[in-house]
Amino acid sequence: MLLPAAGSGERLGKGPKAFLRLGGKTLLERALEAFAWADEIRVALPPGHTLQDEVNVTYRSGGASRQESVYLLLQEARGELVLVHDVARPFVVPEAVERLLEAAQKTGAATLAATLADTLVQNWRGRYGGVLPREDYQLVQTPQGFRRELLLAAHRQALASGVSATDDAQIVMRLGHAVALVPGDRRMFKITYPEDLEIAEGLAKSWKS
Ligand code: CTP
Ligand code: MG
Repeated sequence: MLLPAAGSGERLGKGPKAFLRLGGKTLLERALEAFAWADEIRVALPPGHTLQDEVNVTYRSGGASRQESVYLLLQEARGELVLVHDVARPFVVPEAVERLLEAAQKTGAATLAATLADTLVQNWRGRYGGVLPREDYQLVQTPQGFRRELLLAAHRQALASGVSATDDAQIVMRLGHAVALVPGDRRMFKITYPEDLEIAEGLAKSWKS
């Protein structure tokens, strides 16, 4: 289990999101709880932060990008399959994770993805542009799951060819391997902008963990 948590939270503007408190727990604590069942959890921390390793949790200093952070963690990972989850997604729905795991085991590469609720339109310099068929599009979430060797090969190729990607499925697909889309859950959104935090604070009140 790889947890990229090394970002600086620029768009939110409240410091690194890993240490952001939501309903009395930090986002990092929430992720560690959600994946407590994992044999090994590897966390990339923001530069300058250190934490003591625990029995099944190892901390490393992250890289300059999400991709770099994941690659750093991946190089030390073991096991047949690896899951990657953004710590900035604090609401982990166990049923969705089970669906993802099953698909990743079966196909070697899978990601959670959610449907779009709104009309999807191009922005033509501030004007309403072409309407895209929203059923042809998905919002990519995490966790994503891959055969470890496949993800390693994808990262190596991305690095060698100077490709930078915002998620791991992108570079696995570039390698030529299909990535299964598994129904995600709209509650597994990523806290990115200040209004996301307000929504998260509301949801945290009724969240079971
Ligand atoms: N991440 C990481 N290392 C980086 C950048 C991002 O491990 N160098 C992680 C973040 O901690 C987060 C996930 O990747 O869990 C998704 O990134 P994002 O939502 O973009 O978080 P930040 O990069 O922190 O936010 P921003 O882009 O607004 O600065
Ligand atoms: Mg970022």
